[in-house]
Amino acid sequence: MRILQVNNLKKYFTLGLMRKYTVKALDGVSFDIDQGEIFGVLGESGCGKSTLGLVLSRIEKESSGEIFFKQSKISGSTKLDRDKRREIQIIFQNPYESFDQRLTIEDSLDLPLKINRIGTNRSRRKEIMKDFLSRAGLEPAESFLSRYPHELSGGQLQRISLLRAMMLNPSFLIADECVSMLDLSVRASVINLMLDLVRSEKTTVMFITHDISLAKYVSDRIAVLYLGKVVELGRSVDVVERPLHPYTKVLISYSPSIFERRQKIKPKELMTVFQPETGCNFVNRCPYADNRCERETPQLREIEQGHWVSCHFA
Ligand SMILES: Nc1ncnc2c1ncn2[C@@H]1O[C@H](COP(=O)(O)OP(=O)(O)OP(=O)(O)O)[C@@H](O)[C@H]1O
Ligand SMILES: [Mg+2]
Repeated sequence: MRILQVNNLKKYFTLGLMRKYTVKALDGVSFDIDQGEIFGVLGESGCGKSTLGLVLSRIEKESSGEIFFKQSKISGSTKLDRDKRREIQIIFQNPYESFDQRLTIEDSLDLPLKINRIGTNRSRRKEIMKDFLSRAGLEPAESFLSRYPHELSGGQLQRISLLRAMMLNPSFLIADECVSMLDLSVRASVINLMLDLVRSEKTTVMFITHDISLAKYVSDRIAVLYLGKVVELGRSVDVVERPLHPYTKVLISYSPSIFERRQKIKPKELMTVFQPETGCNFVNRCPYADNRCERETPQLREIEQGHWVSCHFA
């Protein structure tokens, strides 16, 4: 069953004097996510990953397009009823920014439970917090509850921000680069805790990352974003092992692998942020582009079953 449906979603930012420049952070993005699925969103810096998370969680409003969550339309306004606000949770890259530094962990965890009427009184809510902390290996739980955010390591605090979201029993969790600030050595503990919690609760996840191996390890399907557009979408193994879009090929050829020596595909002009009016966004970096790519905007096409690509030559 489908939990989320996104149709032609756009988010434009206008910048500069007289609002002269437009950044198309999301430029006509469409996809569906199934209940219980882990959907990876992959792409390099500035391609629109965080914007997508902010728009889907209704922190930001879209410029146009539609979003349906459990069959009901949530686009058009950033207001959500209390139930949907609880059902859609988001966690961010930097846990120190997502906690109020003046509150103890107990107070920070208590407030959302109270607002959502989970646990009848403070001592019942404290039991819930302790259960979750123990599940995350944060013991003795009591000693964590009385601390302030700065008294915890990044990995511990990120586990707690994950717990804070999961305690509300959400049906859709958006994780935006949730381990990219952490040491390699503690990344696995946070990722495995997330997988453990979401699998047992059958929570649907949008997992945003720029790390291909992580995207493949965590996700059932992956959407590759490039300058606001989905350029490739499919099952993780298909996208990572048999990429069909030149951009995905470039990304993968540059990702480190301990197993094989990959042949690097060199893109032209790295670092150009150029969104042409017509044609393919990747045209001036693509090693294979020709005239047609300048004239015609490629549409996302299903090339193999469940494997979608927007390239004239795929
Ligand atoms: N509030 C804003 N005002 C103006 N431009 C913005 C705003 N937020 C994002 N952008 C622009 O939109 C584009 C997409 O940004 P976004 O933060 O979604 O990228 P990202 O994929 O999350 O990048 P990163 O991997 O660095 O986090 C960028 O060009 C960015 O500069
Ligand atoms: Mg981001």
